[in-house]
Amino acid sequence: MHLAVAFLASALVCTLALDNGLMRTPPMGWLAWERYRCDIDCELDPKNCISENLFMDMADRLSEDGWRELGYVYVNIDDCWASMDRDKQGRLQADPKRFPGGIPKLARYMHDRGLKLGIYGDMGTHTCGGYPGTTLDKIETDAQTFAEWGVDMLKLDGCYSNATEQAEGYPRMSKALNATGRPIGYSCSWPAYQGGLPPKVNYTQLGEICNLWRNYGDIQDSWDSVLSISDWFYKNQDVVGPAAGPGRWNDPDMLIIGDFGLSMDQSRSQMALWAIMAAPLFMSNDLRTISSGARAILQNKMVIGISQDPMGVQGKRLLMKKSGIDVYWRPLSENTSALVFFSRRNDMPYRYQTSLGKLNYTAGTYKVFSVFTEKVATLKDTSDFVVSVNPTGVVLLYVSAPAKHRQFHANAKLHGPAYFRHDDLDNAIPPSFL
Ligand SMILES: *[C@@H]1O[C@H](CO)[C@@H](O)[C@H](O)[C@H]1NC(C)=O
Ligand SMILES: *[C@@H]1O[C@H](CO)[C@@H](O)[C@H](O)[C@H]1NC(C)=O
Ligand SMILES: *[C@@H]1O[C@H](CO)[C@@H](O)[C@H](O)[C@H]1NC(C)=O
Ligand SMILES: *[C@@H]1O[C@H](CO)[C@@H](O)[C@H](O)[C@H]1NC(C)=O
Ligand SMILES: *[C@@H]1O[C@H](CO)[C@@H](O)[C@H](O)[C@H]1NC(C)=O
Repeated sequence: MHLAVAFLASALVCTLALDNGLMRTPPMGWLAWERYRCDIDCELDPKNCISENLFMDMADRLSEDGWRELGYVYVNIDDCWASMDRDKQGRLQADPKRFPGGIPKLARYMHDRGLKLGIYGDMGTHTCGGYPGTTLDKIETDAQTFAEWGVDMLKLDGCYSNATEQAEGYPRMSKALNATGRPIGYSCSWPAYQGGLPPKVNYTQLGEICNLWRNYGDIQDSWDSVLSISDWFYKNQDVVGPAAGPGRWNDPDMLIIGDFGLSMDQSRSQMALWAIMAAPLFMSNDLRTISSGARAILQNKMVIGISQDPMGVQGKRLLMKKSGIDVYWRPLSENTSALVFFSRRNDMPYRYQTSLGKLNYTAGTYKVFSVFTEKVATLKDTSDFVVSVNPTGVVLLYVSAPAKHRQFHANAKLHGPAYFRHDDLDNAIPPSFL
């Protein structure tokens, strides 16, 4: 049932994405804002200030610690990189003290390592941090400057502009980026400034002009923040979900896994809920000191594979049970799918009993792989099973047909071993699936 609906849905989501060929799967990488904010005091805090060193450090980690091969390729500067004044030709320029080599040096640094550089701008008189913004008369100049610098992605914020200016500015920047001839991924904060919902937000139009867009408020380093963002997106899934597809993504904001606010279970929950949402995966953390536990979650190949499914259909919440268990589902290519059982409870691991049939799986027998525990089961749609879900945690299942020997759908960019080999699974089918 779900599968039929999914294929219908993907047929209806025609290819009206921004035509720059980019981000056919949700973009992945690293973004400075949540962890590093507008820290510009390099004397007091040399390791963490917004400077070329910070971005070069992160590029080193991405390219040397196995992140790049998994798809984490963008290194994105956020606010507070610019000089307070434009140059004599009216162009933006980086703060020369913190970025002595300028942005082109950073772009080369990224490209030499197989990475991409993202930058931040703002449709308005000033950025949210008070730096020079991109007013309507500066759109083409700034697009051209970013292209000449070798930038690969632009996040365009919306502080200090009104709705009329935004309605003109965001589409015009899309055209201006295209006119540079350089493929530049375009992240629009526009809908977040319009309340995130129709009739103010036109998701059809957004999909035509932006590769991704921020619908809702900024993420902070806390579980409350993750949960409130997740709940907003899933509550509005019927409105925002159909807008997503290859080249065009809803952006619930950064992954804060590896920071200070989340337990390991909550970290798995953010990763699973973001993957089901087909969300961009931009980490904002310190890759120099990240714990092995957080790294294992962020580098889990199956959850990345679910996130990066080429069909690009955004998943949804199916059920919210009185027990405090929610069930989420995302259809994936080749008749596979992912299920998440998420617990809102704060008391104990909860044993949730269900069957695939109750979740509308009706094709007989399935092979089920539990992504974070690496347990495997073969389940009949009619048989009950139990998952034990930790408080504020998840159980994430990858579901496929049992007989078909296929490899888990790897990110097209990856050439290494597949995420998932059925041969490994055939040996290890446990009697129960807990
Ligand atoms: C610009 O848009 C055209 C038409 O939509 C597209 O074919 C082309 O690839 C785009 N170029 C860039 C650099 O985005
Ligand atoms: C938006 O700002 C522009 C330029 O500052 C101004 O001319 C216009 O009246 C404003 N529009 C609204 C609806 O506030
Ligand atoms: C939304 O945008 C699309 C594409 O730009 C346009 O055809 C449509 O008329 C817009 N819808 C509304 C309600 O403005
Ligand atoms: C998916 O399932 C449908 C219906 O069961 C079947 O017709 C189709 O061939 C399957 N597709 C793949 C790629 O296995
Ligand atoms: C299963 O499908 C039926 C009929 O389309 C629908 O009413 C029901 O909500 C679905 N159940 C779940 C758990 O998605």
